[in-house]
Amino acid sequence: MRRLRGGLLAAALATAGAALPVAAVAQPAAAAAPAAAPAAPTDRAAAIELGRRTYIGMCARCHGINLVTQGIGADLRRFPADGQERFRQSVMQGVRAMPAFGSSLSTPQVEGLWAYIGSVNGWGP
Ligand code: HEC
Repeated sequence: MRRLRGGLLAAALATAGAALPVAAVAQPAAAAAPAAAPAAPTDRAAAIELGRRTYIGMCARCHGINLVTQGIGADLRRFPADGQERFRQSVMQGVRAMPAFGSSLSTPQVEGLWAYIGSVNGWGP
């Protein structure tokens, strides 16, 4: 009376395989900086982590994982370290093909994005 169900399982697995979210792979070295502070992360570490998560959710699709652009957004590895005011303005108001994020980002998120980009690029304290 029993029938083998292996064929059905194999078919289900075959259709499930292809697409895993790329964002889950992104683990920049940034968070490694304050390794000596296990319990209470510094403000900067917290800002970097907030920025990292914001970047993955809202920026990486154009600017690439770990700032490595796929050619859609500008290469943020080359953004000037003394350009924080321009950064804030471009992100809030947009610039040419870059959409404005002023209505969807909090001030701590924008500060965090700047801290994250600085940490990937090796700026900052
Ligand atoms: C829909 C694609 C897209 C998304 C999403 C996006 N950007 Fe951009 N971004 C661009 C493009 C395209 C440019 C180049 C604009 C130009 O100079 O013509 C750009 C340029 C920039 C610049 C350089 C602006 C300047 O002043 O030179 C910064 C900084 C930037 N993006 C930050 C961000 C941040 C931070 C996020 C996430 C909150 C983000 N972008 C999300 C497409 C995008």
